Amino acid sequence: MTDLDQLKTDALTRIENAPDAAALEALRIEFLGKQGSISGLMKTLGKMTPEERQVQGPLLNGLRTETADAIAVRKTMLEDAELDARLATEILDLTLPAPEAPKGSVHPVSQVMDELAEIFADLGFSVATGPEIEDEWHNFTALNMAETHPARAMHDTFYFGDNHRDADGNRMLLRTHTSPVQIRSMVENGAPIRLIAPGRVYRSDSDATHTPMFHQVEGLVIDKAIHLGHLKWTLETFLKAFFERDDIVLRLRPSYFPFTEPSVEVDVGWQDVKGRRVLGGDGDAPGHGWMELLGSGMVNTRVIEFAGLDPDEWQGFAFGVGVDRLAMLKYGMDDLRAFFDGDQRWLDHYGFSPFDQPTLSAGVGAKA
Ligand code: PHE
Repeated sequence: MTDLDQLKTDALTRIENAPDAAALEALRIEFLGKQGSISGLMKTLGKMTPEERQVQGPLLNGLRTETADAIAVRKTMLEDAELDARLATEILDLTLPAPEAPKGSVHPVSQVMDELAEIFADLGFSVATGPEIEDEWHNFTALNMAETHPARAMHDTFYFGDNHRDADGNRMLLRTHTSPVQIRSMVENGAPIRLIAPGRVYRSDSDATHTPMFHQVEGLVIDKAIHLGHLKWTLETFLKAFFERDDIVLRLRPSYFPFTEPSVEVDVGWQDVKGRRVLGGDGDAPGHGWMELLGSGMVNTRVIEFAGLDPDEWQGFAFGVGVDRLAMLKYGMDDLRAFFDGDQRWLDHYGFSPFDQPTLSAGVGAKA
């Protein structure tokens, strides 16, 4: 009897004083584990006479239950204490001043590119990219501009040194337009195609409206029975969504690009509002005018052949437009060079909040 009482007092005291979870677990094994002292005592029940067992059984069972309960209670206490200690170190002091407003903004060029991606995604276009260091085959030859083609000279191309050539001997250059992405996507993915390809392009040219590096977005649709009407509808839908005006009026003028046939230059109507040209309305109305906006046309059958497709099966249209120019027209900047100066004041003024994601539902024309 006294032995059992002694064992119980001893066990309960040690459990109550167990300093941590590991010590408590060691005690559980010592008393209640397979080789544990209390488990050992339980085994002796089998060898007792029924009378002895009637007395010892309840005592031993009680000891085992009390020990197990004590361990559970201590375990909860230790866990609570641990949590309290952690909460004490992870305290959040709400009386501290709020952090400074986040710095940094989205550049208008990035903002416009996001807007374009959103608008064209809605029309089922994907976004493609190509290398800025191109070879002359993708940039010119496959776009129906042979080496001697006069249009090549008009591009003010930055060439790499004569010893920089690709495996086929083509000279390397900084791409002068995003049109080589047309070729790359047709060669790589075949048809049908619906894509836009925004990105940097380079020409040796510099004044208030020209910088040696600027941005274009290319559009390309290749499918069956595509005609000029699809092009006009697509451009109209795109420009109405982009400028957020239903009264955008387009004028298509015959033009020339080696890679499109027929080619059309697209003008957009503007009107004079208090001395400012605002897009919208019929450019032929009094006080109105036309502004040249982009180049486009039906993809030349030669280009479709160069890219490895059968022009009897596949037709398409393409367009190319300056992203910086779109940004200037929509957000009212007048000097292109400021886009690339990195002047903090300009960026603060014309930049967009990173939280201002353009979405069609909320209006793609987020305000700075
Ligand atoms: N690549 C032409 C340019 O940079 C624009 C264009 C693209 C014209 C696609 C027609 C079709 O001037």
